[in-house]
Amino acid sequence: MSQYATHSVKQKNIADLQAMKQAGEKISSLTAYDASFAGLMDRAAIDVILVGDSLGMVVQGHASTLPVSMQDILYHTQAVSRGCQLAFIIADLPFMSHATPLLAAENAALLIQQGGAQMVKLEGACLAEIEFMVQQSIPVCAHLGLLPQSFYQQGKYAVQGKEEKEAQRILAEALAVEQAGAQMLILECVPASLAKQITQQLTIPVIGIGAGVDCDGQVLVVYDMLGIGLATPPRFTKDYMQQTESIFAAIQAYVDEVKSSCFPSLSHSF
Ligand code: KIV
Repeated sequence: MSQYATHSVKQKNIADLQAMKQAGEKISSLTAYDASFAGLMDRAAIDVILVGDSLGMVVQGHASTLPVSMQDILYHTQAVSRGCQLAFIIADLPFMSHATPLLAAENAALLIQQGGAQMVKLEGACLAEIEFMVQQSIPVCAHLGLLPQSFYQQGKYAVQGKEEKEAQRILAEALAVEQAGAQMLILECVPASLAKQITQQLTIPVIGIGAGVDCDGQVLVVYDMLGIGLATPPRFTKDYMQQTESIFAAIQAYVDEVKSSCFPSLSHSF
């Protein structure tokens, strides 16, 4: 078999997602933490699955994402990649797992080689870490805006970039992470107008969560959009089980609403 042979079913890749941005086709994404949910999402034609460190809260019951370890993310990434054949898989680098460029690259390699992820995500404008990983051929998704791993520093989960100076900082960080080689950006809890400006200025796909409808795509924590999260759901999420009769139908409805720009509405945006 040629080293360039492709599998009979084609898993989405970064070039497909880049082409979707260029064509103006919205990218749908949800978090997943196990094979069964990943399989359902594949059937519903989700574009991107994120094995997020949100698992610390919604699966493990912690009050924040900070206790999540590399072993936890690796275990759940392996489960997701076993259940998924079509969606592009991103795995989160948890708290302190990307504290230096070398540590970030070593942990990213584990998530790719042993976990089956196609890309890793890290919170913050960690330019040196992004540049080093990209030099090692590791695909990187940056994450800006609200950074849950900085919860103790920030003291609360709050919308970021409401003040002009802060908005300019987030825009500058977005341009810098793209320049450093990130191939995707997740923007969390920023005003829709700022997210629109960033999405227009960047050439890489920008996926929003609480960032308005003008991003290139949307991501939600799956337990939130199924109405089974532990805490009061954040304003930017929507419970799709209220209008459907099965988890599969809820995921399908979410994909449809993202693709048609019906979600997020103004009431889910800042
Ligand atoms: O961990 C996670 O689920 C995330 C999303 C909220 C973007 O980072």
